[in-house]
Amino acid sequence: MTKPLTPEQVAIIDKNHIWHPYSSLTKPIPAYQVVSASGVRLKLSDGTELIDGMSSWWSAIHGYNHPALNKALIDQIGKVSHVMFGGITHEPAATLCKTLVDITPDGLDKVFLSDSGSVSVEVALKMALQFWSSQERFEKSRFLSFKKGYHGDTLGAMSVCDPVNGMHSLFNHTLDKQIFAEAPICGFHDAWEDRYIYDVKSKLEANSQNIAAVIIEPVMQGAGGLNFYSPFYMQEIRKLCDSYDVLLIADEIATGFGRTGKLFACEWSDTSPDILCLGKALTGGYMTLAATLCTSKISNTICSGGSGVFMHGPTYMGNPLACSVANASIDLLLDTDWQTTIKRINTQLKDQLSGLDEHRSVKDVRCLGAIGVVEMFEKIDVGKIQKEFVSEGIWIRPFDKRIYLMPPYNISSEDLKKLTNGIIKVINRLY
Ligand SMILES: Cc1ncc(COP(=O)(O)O)c(C=O)c1O
Repeated sequence: MTKPLTPEQVAIIDKNHIWHPYSSLTKPIPAYQVVSASGVRLKLSDGTELIDGMSSWWSAIHGYNHPALNKALIDQIGKVSHVMFGGITHEPAATLCKTLVDITPDGLDKVFLSDSGSVSVEVALKMALQFWSSQERFEKSRFLSFKKGYHGDTLGAMSVCDPVNGMHSLFNHTLDKQIFAEAPICGFHDAWEDRYIYDVKSKLEANSQNIAAVIIEPVMQGAGGLNFYSPFYMQEIRKLCDSYDVLLIADEIATGFGRTGKLFACEWSDTSPDILCLGKALTGGYMTLAATLCTSKISNTICSGGSGVFMHGPTYMGNPLACSVANASIDLLLDTDWQTTIKRINTQLKDQLSGLDEHRSVKDVRCLGAIGVVEMFEKIDVGKIQKEFVSEGIWIRPFDKRIYLMPPYNISSEDLKKLTNGIIKVINRLY
């Protein structure tokens, strides 16, 4: 049997051989070694415990090592851990897909399961393309997306990410050329003005013949800047898509499962997209799984024209372990008074972070649901600030100019206070 590595051996192998997200192997910033996690705490190899403010990139909404989620996986392992989905079906996938149909906005009643958020976006883009090609509308082959948008790191998903801050400059010669509208500029609570929508409208007017779908993150542009925008904007986008005969894809990979204060962010505007992408919190952060939902109109059109089938089929599609833990995570969420929990977190984030508005280095403080954002004027040195956060016993990973919190929903008020206090202390110390 292989002997477990010592923390020192892990550190050496990590430094010499392992890529981390968006990282350099020649000038790596330190990777902290986690040996276990429980509740909202991560335990490092040197015994340090950190309160988690990130929910592991917005996925671990119930925290770590949760008995109900552990049990779902252990029970499922005793039955079947994986089986191909081609020509086979099973109870965990059926339960999950029926639940997703029931809890997502009206009209989305077909579900395609895949491995990760980016892949669910690829699936959504392909569904939109096949919807039009099945009707021999081959000219509808481009997407309208938004500046500051983020939809994932695979090639198709990258093509609809922000063209400046995304990775277009690196992959410019390969990426499909999409059409970009200005990012929404209306704040979440701003009174509606028609001018907010002029740019998208004019781009649709000029290009709708060639546009398969609009893709948008409802209410919050996440990794592109954590900007919240008015629900009226989504309503107007829905109307524009209908009048210009273009599909609407809502990417709720970051916002789904309660994070913004509604179960799905589309509910803020009472809109139903034609295609919906879900991921991240779908399994409570336990397993990688994503889902793309669409209307019967889309599935019927795809299946009645062209090849007659939808052309995608990942090896791990519908993985039973992932589906069973997703079922347990959704039950856990819906069986609790999660709205009150999110309101409590929201009130505390606002109360405790809003004072930072006055700080000379802070540009803006904003909160929505269980999300608190402190935007600095200058780009943040992540390696440097993370060391300070760790010394405060908290796990926060800023990006670009933003320090933010998206804690697990089961965080106590005391632990949340440690996170907000830690941010205040570190900003005062470094800026
Ligand atoms: C809105 C949105 N779409 C897509 C993705 C990509 O998901 P994944 O990292 O699971 O591929 C993300 C990840 O941050 C996201 O926030």
